[in-house]
Amino acid sequence: MAVDLGNGDGNSKYLKDFTELEFIACGGFSSVVKCRSRLDGKLYAVKKISVEFSGMTVDRVLREAQIMAELDHPHIAKYHEAWVEDQMWGDTGHFYKKCDVETKCVFILMDLYNCSPLDQLLENDDKLEASISDGSIFRLFKECVAAVSYIHSRGYVHCDMTASNVLVVRGADSTVTAKVIDFGLARRMDDEGLVVISNQLGHIMYRAPECIAESTRTTDRPVVKVGAKADMFSLGVILAQILHPTCPIEMFEDLREIPIPDRWREGTYGSILARLVSLSPDERPSAAQLLQELDSLPPSADS
Ligand SMILES: Nc1ncnc2c1ncn2[C@@H]1O[C@H](COP(=O)(O)OP(=O)(O)OP(=O)(O)O)[C@@H](O)[C@H]1O
Ligand SMILES: [Mg+2]
Repeated sequence: MAVDLGNGDGNSKYLKDFTELEFIACGGFSSVVKCRSRLDGKLYAVKKISVEFSGMTVDRVLREAQIMAELDHPHIAKYHEAWVEDQMWGDTGHFYKKCDVETKCVFILMDLYNCSPLDQLLENDDKLEASISDGSIFRLFKECVAAVSYIHSRGYVHCDMTASNVLVVRGADSTVTAKVIDFGLARRMDDEGLVVISNQLGHIMYRAPECIAESTRTTDRPVVKVGAKADMFSLGVILAQILHPTCPIEMFEDLREIPIPDRWREGTYGSILARLVSLSPDERPSAAQLLQELDSLPPSADS
């Protein structure tokens, strides 16, 4: 059922061109909803990001859209357009509630997927067991590696590769495929292949050791310089969750501190995991190397 958007504002592109149908999810400063375009009749996902709540500038928030606009890959959510409005119209999720919040808002229009985030799939033992036994979970992992390899090849580091930022999309023929989302923390690499990130942003469990190393300089928000291998550590944490879904969450939180158990290193994927969560970035494979390695594995490896 369509959400009542109030009296509206004749200048609002969102109110004029879209009918908001359903709230999907919300995060720190954003809300994702399902909409129908009044122009082409198609369904879309719209991510609405509150500039005020994010504590950033409009230009900084728009960077997420600008990076998505540069990317075109089968395993990355497809971006269409972005625009800025003075209000965060419509259903904005649990903590802003359903109201027309007065905050500058960046709207990002994407393809809408029939999906569940990977972290939710990992919580469902039955579904996961079925995916492991038919090998599809390893194919999904490979698709994530392909997306990350492409992101790196385009000169960006994602900086927020987490199981919740991988959508497991169900196709019409009940096949599943992975789509990487959420470029809110992504950065363009400098000439040395490095990006500057705040060492306080992103999901702590997935952050590589170098992401929380001592600050390179002192500011209100301490920063560190990291390379593309930071994403590889995050992929390692995702792989650990795939391989050991019933382990207590603390095991994954400790991957930066404590070497992984010997039994976790066994098998083809165990040895990949061990390299991905190496404390030294140099010991981790690049996404391109890992993709090549995964491509050469027989479909039955570890399944
Ligand atoms: N294109 C899409 N189609 C369907 N659902 C989506 C789509 N994009 C995002 N979602 C849903 O919205 C959730 C949040 O999306 P996203 O990760 O981009 O925002 P966020 O985590 O709130 O962002 P931030 O980390 O910037 O606060 C996803 O986990 C997923 O459930
Ligand atoms: Mg997210």
